[in-house]
Amino acid sequence: MSNAIGAVAAERALPAGGGAVIELGGGFGSGAEALLARLDAAGRGAAAAPYRFTELAPMFLRRAERTLRARFPGRPLEFGALDINRPFGEAGIAPGAYSLVYGVNVVHIARDLAATLGEIRTALGDGGMLVVAECVRPFAGRPVYVELAFNLLGAFRDAVLVPGWRPNGGFLTPEQWRSALEANGFADVAVFPDIAAIRKVIPQFVVAAISARRA
Ligand SMILES: C[S@@+](CC[C@H](N)C(=O)[O-])C[C@H]1O[C@@H](n2cnc3c(N)ncnc32)[C@H](O)[C@@H]1O
Repeated sequence: MSNAIGAVAAERALPAGGGAVIELGGGFGSGAEALLARLDAAGRGAAAAPYRFTELAPMFLRRAERTLRARFPGRPLEFGALDINRPFGEAGIAPGAYSLVYGVNVVHIARDLAATLGEIRTALGDGGMLVVAECVRPFAGRPVYVELAFNLLGAFRDAVLVPGWRPNGGFLTPEQWRSALEANGFADVAVFPDIAAIRKVIPQFVVAAISARRA
């Protein structure tokens, strides 16, 4: 579900003429596969050029590279390690190099969300877009069912908290995402689907893509 919603939002966010894309915390590559397949289906197979796939865990990175190179031969794919909790320059990411930064179920893990959003902003060129597909907390302070296991992870417990938009580690509400992005140099924030509009009727729907433009 996150991959499908994220792919729709990311395809929309990519400029008509295409551009360089970097994915964060790509895991085994299922999010990249969904986005690249969606671009193919839209006749925009060459739009993500290059598509730089990054991940922290070397084993995930190796497996994703094998899978994606086999699935999309000839595509300008790049692979490299990147820790979203470290300056992206350490991973060889040049300022302003990307049109789209993409992440599926990863940016909420950031220990210091302001610092990570700052690195993402620096990696984007003028008008560049960030799209994150995330499990979204429908109501502030109310746990989401998948958190029972995730709460055991340090990333959920050790986050730098910020009143107003980072009251807890882990998942954020749509309003907290909006505030976090606006407080850290992004504009035109959109949440798809509009969780705030549907949460009273379908509180169990907790997946959304959040997009924002580098201000
Ligand atoms: C919930 S998984 C999501 C994986 C993939 N995006 C997906 O949706 O299938 C979170 C991913 O973030 C990676 N990760 C964890 N901490 C990270 C960090 N500090 N920097 C970059 N990636 C990280 C994990 O290795 C894992 O692949």
